[in-house]
Amino acid sequence: MIRKCLFPAAGYGTRFLPATKATPKEMLPVLTKPLIQYGVEEAIEAGIDTMAIVTGRGKRAIEDHFDISYELEHQIKGTNKEHYLHDIREVIENCTFSYTRQTQMKGLGHAILTGQTLIGNEPFAVLLADDLCDNEGNAVLKQMVDLYEKYQCCIVAIEEVPKEHTNKYGVISGNEIEEGIFMIDNMVEKPEPEDAPSNLAIIGRYILTPDIFDIIKDTNPGKGGEIQITDALLTQAKKAMVLGFKFKGVRFDCGSIDGFVEATNHFYNKSK
Ligand code: G1P
Repeated sequence: MIRKCLFPAAGYGTRFLPATKATPKEMLPVLTKPLIQYGVEEAIEAGIDTMAIVTGRGKRAIEDHFDISYELEHQIKGTNKEHYLHDIREVIENCTFSYTRQTQMKGLGHAILTGQTLIGNEPFAVLLADDLCDNEGNAVLKQMVDLYEKYQCCIVAIEEVPKEHTNKYGVISGNEIEEGIFMIDNMVEKPEPEDAPSNLAIIGRYILTPDIFDIIKDTNPGKGGEIQITDALLTQAKKAMVLGFKFKGVRFDCGSIDGFVEATNHFYNKSK
């Protein structure tokens, strides 16, 4: 049973400056909803009710967003504008939020390790809000939670990317044991195309078992001098089993301007 979802949200969002100078990148809206709220709603759809958020300096707006604003409630109550608050009220009522701060940016592996204090000793999901996913059927995280029930091991979401883009992702290779499910035998963080083991890229959805924390502690800095979850998961894959899962749905890289615009158009057309 997966009850908790970790959201690494301490990054600077440099690519969106100046918008991200005083606003966390996770709070940038696609239409009217901040990126991180899409992520939280996806986690709720997967049956998760405990959100563990790893923040950093300048990220207080995230905490305020997932809290009641009494002034706003007072102003809007009983007016024809009340429906604007419907979705966020549902989120606040249906889950709990806890926060911890990452004081130094030492990579995604380090951010996940920072969240250990909020997760404890149980399997958990990790969602990177930059990767915005949508699907007509089950949400991506729900698909992964269902797969976890069957295999009880670490799982990463994967998708095929053009070979020339492998240097933007963690890339896996493995043996396809069921349609779209790979038993991973290699994974490399941001390899150049000529060094990539395949074109199957990791996207920002993971199910992790709590033994990953000790593995991260023993993982040396890798690509970019940062502690990479990709490297820790390769150790896990060699010791036990890690699955790559080709999810059903679309995914937008909202860490890039192009992906952000595509996501905006997608959700705008959907809302029509
Ligand atoms: C992180 C991971 C990478 C993964 C990507 C998915 O990279 O390190 O393995 O493919 O997220 O979005 P980042 O985009 O944070 O540099």
